This record gives sequence, C-alpha cells and structure tokens, in this order.
Amino acid sequence: VVLDWDPGQVERGGYKHFMLKEIHEQPGACAQTLQVLVGERGFDLTPWGLPPELLRSLSSVHLVACGTSWHAALVGKFYLETLAGVPCRVDYASEFRYREPLVPPSSLVVGITQSGETADTLAAMRLAKDKQALVGSICNVRGAMAERLSEVKLPTSAGPEIGVASTKAFTSQLVALLVLALAWRRARGEADEALERRLFHLPYDLQQALHTDSSVEGVAGELQHARNALYLGRGVLYPIALEGALKLKEISYVHAEGYPAGEMKHGPIALLDEDFPVIGLCPAFELTEKTLSNLEEVRARKAPVYVVGDGEHPRLREIAQRLVPLPRLPWPLLPIVAVVPLQLLAYRVAVLRGCDVDQPRNLAKSVTVE
Ligand code: G6P
Repeated sequence: VVLDWDPGQVERGGYKHFMLKEIHEQPGACAQTLQVLVGERGFDLTPWGLPPELLRSLSSVHLVACGTSWHAALVGKFYLETLAGVPCRVDYASEFRYREPLVPPSSLVVGITQSGETADTLAAMRLAKDKQALVGSICNVRGAMAERLSEVKLPTSAGPEIGVASTKAFTSQLVALLVLALAWRRARGEADEALERRLFHLPYDLQQALHTDSSVEGVAGELQHARNALYLGRGVLYPIALEGALKLKEISYVHAEGYPAGEMKHGPIALLDEDFPVIGLCPAFELTEKTLSNLEEVRARKAPVYVVGDGEHPRLREIAQRLVPLPRLPWPLLPIVAVVPLQLLAYRVAVLRGCDVDQPRNLAKSVTVE
C-alpha cells in the first residue's frame, strides 16, 4: 500500500489537525480513563489513595483549576453535590492562591490539570497543603508535578494531547470526576448501580456524537463571518456553554461568551440583534422548557438561534435556524456528550476562517509561568 501522506499527516493519523484527531479520540480516551480508574475492581478508589472509609471521613471538596480544566471543575461540582451529597466549591487556581481561602478541616482539595504543570494550579495545591488539606489531582501526565504534590492521584488516560485547545483531556476529566462522585456515593452505602453500568456505554454515545459533524458544518458555514456569539445553557450544561464559547474564541478568534440561560435577561439580551448568533444547549432534560423559553426571548430579538439539543422537540425545531441533535441521556452524561458538537463547531469555524487551529496565536499548551 502506498500512502501519499506527508510525515506530519502520519503523526496526525491522517487527520488535517491534531485538534480534529483528538476530538475523534474521545471515545477511546474516555473508555481508557474509565478502564484504568474502575476496571474490573468497581467504583472503589482505594488504589488511588481514596479508600471508602477516608471518603466517609471527608467533609467537603474544593476543586481548583485553570482554563478548560476549570470548566470540568464546574461540572464536577454538580456530580459531587448531587450524586455524592458532598459540599463542593470551585475556584480559579489564580484566584484561590491570592486570597485567604477557607479550607475546612478534613477537606479534599483537588487540582484538575491536563499537563500537571500549570503554575497557578500547582501554587493553589501547595497552598492547600499548607492549610493541612488532603491534596489530590486529576491529571493526564504521569509523574507531572501535580501528581508529585498529591496524596490522592486520580489519573486521566487520554494519551498525549498536542492541540493547544483541550478536547479529549476535558471529557476524560469529566469521566474521572463522575467516577469520583459515584465512588463517594457508593462509600456512603447508596451506590447508583444503574448509572455505574450506564457509564460504560459512554464511549458509544461519544461515537454517536461525532456523527453530528455534518450538521455542525452547516452551522459553521453560517457562523464563520460572525463577530460575536452567545452560548446559553442551564444547570450542568452552563459550564458546557462556557467551554463552547472558550473553544470558539481560542481557535477562531470570534468573540464569544457563555452565559446561564436564565441570566441572559440581566444583560446580554441588550446585545442581541440579527447579527448576533446564539447557540442554545437544550437537550431533553429537566430544564428543557426553561431553556426553551429563554431561546424564545432570543428569537423575539431577531437573533439567529442555533440549537444543540432535543431533535424531537417540535417547538425547538421551529425556532432553531439549525438544530444539531443530541440523544436522550442520563443528566450526568449530557455535558460529556454535548461538548463534542461544540468542539467540532469551533474547529469548523476556525478552518473556514483560515486560522492555525493547532497553534492559536498568543496561547500556550501549558502555562508554566505566572
Ligand atoms: C492553557 C491551555 C488550555 C488549558 C489551560 C489549563 O491555557 O491553552 O487548553 O485548559 O492551560 O491547563 P492544564 O494543563 O492545567 O489543564
């Protein structure tokens, strides 16, 4: 067989960019993360430094991170509070380190970091250590400084991530956070066995989500000349709205904001007109109707509405200029799957705008200085 690929293409597994390759690697990255963390052993994190009796003795969790990893932390708060019933706070590492954060006795402070070398995250973890917290990491690089600083080391196993914009590391972090919450719940004697089992199907859901690329291309074609975009989501999808907006600004240089859909009326609604596209995250879940009513308000201002959500919903189909369908899923899996079309959208817009997807200007893969 003769392949007419250049060496770079071989490295990228035939994909045009590392980012696209890594988006497509997500089913495998999440399966591998799950396999390493849970394997045949079940939802018991003893090998990672968190035996059930230790989990039961902890009073709260604090998650610290930067960038995309901070968005994972925001989703993690939903998992930990709703599934494990443990109070969880989330901080930007760069803010945590320069205030006097209250770290109650017997709390766990976890740095979430793909590289394990982000200066602010490491400083926040060191501060937590000084405050006598149990310090942990969710990290993608074995032996990185974040792991060396940690007593509790929860590995993500996404493999090397080369594209500056984080994709497969993010979804793997969400899997690790969900495993943490489910293990915590089990340690309390309230195991959610249905969700534990369902989680193993996630790689197939992610595979399905990759098939949205053709409908995403249509949205990208319409968004490519936009100067602004607003991403709206509620509940566990609000952090995904933030992540979708971050992806778009990082690699296509289109100004974008993520907002909780219910907050739109307190400000961003003033910006809306026919040139201000809005991307609504509105799958079938308990907040569908609430999100829909916010999207109706957008429509009333004549702003183009794009929906990533419930393709069966007649009203959503009416108001959406284009709709990228999401399957019905248990709520904890929604953020992990819903981010995929948003990653693809940012990628497609960046390519149409001729941007350097894997090396966006002014950004670094790993920010090891302050
Ligand atoms: C940089 C990267 C982001 C990443 C952030 C945190 O800004 O460009 O993609 O999310 O650092 O990195 P970390 O390695 O700590 O997850």
